[in-house]
Amino acid sequence: MLEFYIINSFFYIVTQKKNMNFKGKNCLITGATGGLGTELSLLLAKMGFNLFLTSTRKSSLIKLEKKIQNFSNVRTSSFVADFTKNSDIQKLIKKIRHDFGTVDIIINNAAIFYPKSMLSSSLDDFEKSFSVNVKAPYVLCNKFGHDMKKNRWGRIVNIGSAAAYRGIENQSIYCSTKFALLGFSKSLVQEFSKYNVRVFFVAPGPLQTDMGKIVIKNNKQLNYDSFVTPTELSKFILDLIVYEKQLFVEEVRVGRIDF
Ligand SMILES: NC(=O)c1ccc[n+]([C@@H]2O[C@H](COP(=O)([O-])OP(=O)(O)OC[C@H]3O[C@@H](n4cnc5c(N)ncnc54)[C@H](OP(=O)(O)O)[C@@H]3O)[C@@H](O)[C@H]2O)c1
Repeated sequence: MLEFYIINSFFYIVTQKKNMNFKGKNCLITGATGGLGTELSLLLAKMGFNLFLTSTRKSSLIKLEKKIQNFSNVRTSSFVADFTKNSDIQKLIKKIRHDFGTVDIIINNAAIFYPKSMLSSSLDDFEKSFSVNVKAPYVLCNKFGHDMKKNRWGRIVNIGSAAAYRGIENQSIYCSTKFALLGFSKSLVQEFSKYNVRVFFVAPGPLQTDMGKIVIKNNKQLNYDSFVTPTELSKFILDLIVYEKQLFVEEVRVGRIDF
């Protein structure tokens, strides 16, 4: 069960899956082989979305695509791209253009998390984190946003974090990237809503993923079992994507309640 807080608007989302007409939409998921990315990919494939998947690991991408093809006949394609390299981001765009033409939905999910004190971190950590967590989302939206505007339909889901709202010891770089992504996302809401392109900033607390395990290593007081499950969060994100009525949500903070 998810407890969620919507900062600017508070609307409960009623899923309209029954009337859904999303089959055949092209969705780009970055960081598709990570904990949340994998769950999102499997769920969206079940719902009939064509999927373009990225990761830094070829073997994991191949495994994920095979898994999807075992239960679904959606179109899939994938590309190995390290977002710390500009050239990889450009090659990814070319590959998407070649295979899918364009994408209707972008889920900016890939992220780097280096828990280090500011004094023990390096400029390289800073630049890599900003490249993956902020620059790649910017470049992808900058490229495919034109098509969404032209088509008068699109969805951009920026995966944020609770770290977008407060300072956290040993997370100065990560927090900075998520604050930046929040500002980016809120500005896109202002620019894109009029074109029927909905932009969401989804900010979960700790997740039951590999990244969540790093969080635990650095804060032994936390309890991994109390973290948000990627399966439940993915369902919530699907609800956001398929919502078609007039209410809009731009920012959601997601935690978990146990009862
Ligand atoms: N886990 C948490 O506690 C938590 C809490 C709040 C928010 N979030 C956010 O949730 C999202 C998903 O995180 P997760 O928990 O699923 O983490 P995860 O399992 O570590 O997955 C991260 C994904 O990012 C990709 N990635 C890492 N470095 C990259 C690079 N240089 N270039 C391109 N892709 C790269 C990884 O690719 P590979 O698969 O190739 O490694 C992986 O697919 C992230 O945006 C994260 O900031 C996580």
